[in-house]
Amino acid sequence: MFLMGVADMKVTIGSDHGAVNLKEEIKKVLTEMKIEIDDVGTFGNEAVDYPDIAEKVADSVVNGRADKGIVLCGTGIGISIAANKIKGVRAALCHDVFSAKMSREHNDANILAMGERVIGVGPACEIVKAWLTSEFTGDRHARRVNKIMALEK
Ligand code: RB5
Repeated sequence: MFLMGVADMKVTIGSDHGAVNLKEEIKKVLTEMKIEIDDVGTFGNEAVDYPDIAEKVADSVVNGRADKGIVLCGTGIGISIAANKIKGVRAALCHDVFSAKMSREHNDANILAMGERVIGVGPACEIVKAWLTSEFTGDRHARRVNKIMALEK
């Protein structure tokens, strides 16, 4: 399989206990795409707090240890809200391919969020592929993304 734009890409992925299965399925896709994976957990069914996982993934992305991040929880809502509290993060909660592509092309999202209790494995994997192979289109969208980032100050 040849997909544009993923050569030498590194992705940090993390989930709470509500999305461990989905995390494993997505890791298979990343492996197929020959993407380097940094899995920050969690690794079992014991309950963990999703902000702790969001912080680990976000830290990896904003400090350049990964090109992009994927965060997962039961709904994707809590972990995306938490990730977006970290400066430099643009986390997008996407449960369809169109939104995933737009989050890259228009919003330059650097973290993708999804919920295992919301979406099936098949659609989630298609979303991951679309998200990782879509590029930011810049231009007028760059001005808007810059304004988003200015809101952090
Ligand atoms: C954990 O039970 C659940 O609240 C979490 O996975 C997520 O859905 C929160 O937004």
